[in-house]
Amino acid sequence: MANVDIAEPETGLSHPLTPLTAAELEDVVRIVSTDDRFDDDTIFHTVTLKEPPKEDVIAWRSERPLAREAFCVLMVQARTWEAVVSLDTGAIRWLEEKPGVQPAILLEEFVNCEQAVKADPQWRAALHERGIEDVDRAIVDPWSAGCYGDERWPDRRLARAYTWLRGSDADVGYGRPVDGVHAIVDLERMEVLRVEDYGEVPLPPLTGYYTPDSVGPVRPDLKPLEIVQPEGPSFSVEGNRVDWQGWAFRVGFTPREGLVLHQISYRDKGRERPVLYRAALSEMVVPYGDPGPVHNRKNAFDVGEYGVGRLANSLTLGCDCLGTIQYFDVDQVTAAGEVMRMPRVICLHEEDAGTLWKHTDWRSEHCEVRRSRRLVISFFATVGNYDYGFYWNFYQDGSMDTEIKLTGCLSVGALPPGEQPQYGTLVSEQLYAPIHQHFFNFRLDPMIDGRANTVYEQDTVAEAPDPSVNPHLNAYYPVSRAIRNEREAARDADPLRARTWQITNPSVTNAMGQPVSYKLVPGETVQPFAHDNAPLMQRAAFIGKPFWVTAHDEREQFAAGDYINQHPGGDGLPAYQAHERDLEDTDVVVWYTVGHHHIPRPEDWPVMPVLKAGFALRPVGFFDGNPAMDVPPPGSKQSCEAGCSGS
Ligand code: NI
Repeated sequence: MANVDIAEPETGLSHPLTPLTAAELEDVVRIVSTDDRFDDDTIFHTVTLKEPPKEDVIAWRSERPLAREAFCVLMVQARTWEAVVSLDTGAIRWLEEKPGVQPAILLEEFVNCEQAVKADPQWRAALHERGIEDVDRAIVDPWSAGCYGDERWPDRRLARAYTWLRGSDADVGYGRPVDGVHAIVDLERMEVLRVEDYGEVPLPPLTGYYTPDSVGPVRPDLKPLEIVQPEGPSFSVEGNRVDWQGWAFRVGFTPREGLVLHQISYRDKGRERPVLYRAALSEMVVPYGDPGPVHNRKNAFDVGEYGVGRLANSLTLGCDCLGTIQYFDVDQVTAAGEVMRMPRVICLHEEDAGTLWKHTDWRSEHCEVRRSRRLVISFFATVGNYDYGFYWNFYQDGSMDTEIKLTGCLSVGALPPGEQPQYGTLVSEQLYAPIHQHFFNFRLDPMIDGRANTVYEQDTVAEAPDPSVNPHLNAYYPVSRAIRNEREAARDADPLRARTWQITNPSVTNAMGQPVSYKLVPGETVQPFAHDNAPLMQRAAFIGKPFWVTAHDEREQFAAGDYINQHPGGDGLPAYQAHERDLEDTDVVVWYTVGHHHIPRPEDWPVMPVLKAGFALRPVGFFDGNPAMDVPPPGSKQSCEAGCSGS
């Protein structure tokens, strides 16, 4: 299928949530560049659609255009500005300096930082002292500097740069860490401020080869597997709107969050019923558990400190994606203000998903079975050594889930021969991977049949062993408790009580008179092991509890706040909840953190097999019964001949 530009206008007026087109992005750059307050050296950190207010979008009808505006973060001589540019008037409508903040590190800064470090005499001397003559083979990655209260240059734009020695292009590059040495770099001046050398650790002897030529003979017995959809896929795409099997949503993309889904709805009995107004990854953090000098400050906030949308991959048919694929291209603005087309960033396709439902009448041997299909929309981002896939899956029974695929290269350290690590796992000779965790916070703006929703926490409890009500000691039942105010809206998971959170519309009931709802079903979850007083926990307070509810405020988008890079903490969810707003029967936002605990294994080296983590959203009384009863029986001859024809 031909790629679709997500900003491609539909017939008639484009929808207010359509991402900015390449032409609009160019206009924004021109408008900013010709404003006296900005010069040729202005860094276009972020240029993205400023989404119109929710109520205006909901009320929008195609005959009435809404203002087209861009939200920009601009950096000028180490000062950061936020601007809103009106595409209708061709002028900056709003401008505010944001003192003391550091926007996310840009890809351009990755490249320039590596060059600056490799040119630094002190760093070169540290490598020479380790017997490394060919310093050109070194690779240098800037890691976010964090904030620890002991910064010598707190007002500078900082990164901590680590070094590895690459064997060849067939090598993952991260297999031979030049351990014990790193550089503190001022990214604004591209100046190495200090090289910290904690002493030599011998280079691990092996590289991490991963290309087909370098790993030895590939297995010969794999036969082709082809996904064929002779009549095309069952979804349709118009502009950025996708329709499939009752589901509809709009596709967006931002440099920070990557994929954003808007106005997710399910068509039921001829009615398009809203489920979520907006859904996106809001923040990530990967805290490492090794107290050693090189690793104790590793805790990447990959959304707020780097931007997973900026780092998205262009995908390849037959490799990343199989079958009939609809790709979406994305346009972004580079730091220098050039509009860059990123082709095939978002992948949309259908997958067979096993059995949808089945029953065999054992008396008559009559069988009815339906195959499940799911619609998958996804993108992949590479953040230095790690690679993350973000998948949203939609099913024919009204459920959906979010799946993160973790792969790529571990962040590793070197060890002297014969040593075993206390805070990590030996994954190759003299090479260890520190224990770490991956937390992914998703911001979900629910709209279950309307904006006024209430969130309930549901546990299952055993009935008291009271002879009058529970004489056989077998009784148990679910208990739901409304989360009424932000004071009580940061919640723990409790898998042993089967805890879920139900988002309910108290004003809309189903055929049984129950309020309609969707429940959030947690997947893998874990507590953070960093101490409550660790600087990290001030900055990543959102990981302290996996589930939070806040009242809707469009200014509150990110679980660790707008500018987490070098931020001391306290922003984001704890600040949002400090308003102590009431949460009942009102417009609420739920925030859920997937916690993946990673004790590395030798099998994770040199490139780790995909590990999956996520959560699900399932309808509970949203429908009057199984909404997938009308899925037709399988059409394939082979399945019918097996005696389970569905007829
Ligand atoms: Ni990991």
